Amino acid sequence: MRVVIIGASSGMGQEVAKLLLDEGCRLGVAARREDRLQVLKQLAPDRVETATIDVTTEDAPTRLRALIDRMGGMDLFFYSSGIGKQNRTLTPDIELNTVNTNGMGFTRMVGEAYRYFAERGEGHIAAITSIAGTKGLGPAPSYSATKAFQNVYLEALEQQANARGLKIRFTDIRPGFVNTDLLSGDFNYPMMLKPDKAARQIVHAIKAKRRVKVIDWKYAILTPLWRLLPRPLWRHLKL
Ligand SMILES: NC(=O)c1ccc[n+]([C@@H]2O[C@H](COP(=O)([O-])OP(=O)(O)OC[C@H]3O[C@@H](n4cnc5c(N)ncnc54)[C@H](OP(=O)(O)O)[C@@H]3O)[C@@H](O)[C@H]2O)c1
Repeated sequence: MRVVIIGASSGMGQEVAKLLLDEGCRLGVAARREDRLQVLKQLAPDRVETATIDVTTEDAPTRLRALIDRMGGMDLFFYSSGIGKQNRTLTPDIELNTVNTNGMGFTRMVGEAYRYFAERGEGHIAAITSIAGTKGLGPAPSYSATKAFQNVYLEALEQQANARGLKIRFTDIRPGFVNTDLLSGDFNYPMMLKPDKAARQIVHAIKAKRRVKVIDWKYAILTPLWRLLPRPLWRHLKL
């Protein structure tokens, strides 16, 4: 299987890349930090192509197409890029950078993968979004809002693909807190998951072609309950 992973330079994207290499997949790995991608390349030089891609730039879709060409095609697109910070003082840069990366960047790259699979007639798009999209989170307004955007965007693409008779599958992966660079030093998070353990569940969900997968089971129980909390109660929660 030929898999493109955007955001493979660290965290869950990197762990998923290692697991897929163990399974014999051919990978196209992308992110901004080329040196980190070279670590993956060294694991299987003849099965890994690398590309320096910043999802916030306009040439990112062209770079994605060039990577797909170098791989001779793509069967699975796995999107793991993202940034997230707490922003209790609502610093504008943090809010806007998050929208640019998780909103604009996501739309740019998932959209290009969708158009590629539309031309081909079939394919599979999987993306790590988050449980943070379940409700608006006061400590991280733009992070939670962009994650909700990602959840809804995938739902919309699925409906559009079906209406167009395209055989494109979608997997929305929603982890709870995972111990990666994204969270480092931000806060002492509860029920933290290990990235390699989360990656194993991600690969399993992708192979099973799950539509939505919350990781792990504890968060799968908790998140529907958050959704049920009435607005007057949610408004006064001190997170
Ligand atoms: N950690 C958690 O608790 C948690 C929970 C739920 C969901 N998530 C989501 O999981 C995804 C992966 O994050 P992670 O936790 O594995 O953290 P991570 O180790 O920080 O990984 C983030 C990845 O995104 C890439 N990235 C960031 N900005 C980019 C840009 N402008 N262009 C291209 N790539 C970019 C990074 O690569 P470069 O810096 O090299 O570009 C890196 O490979 C994110 O979408 C995150 O929101 C994380």
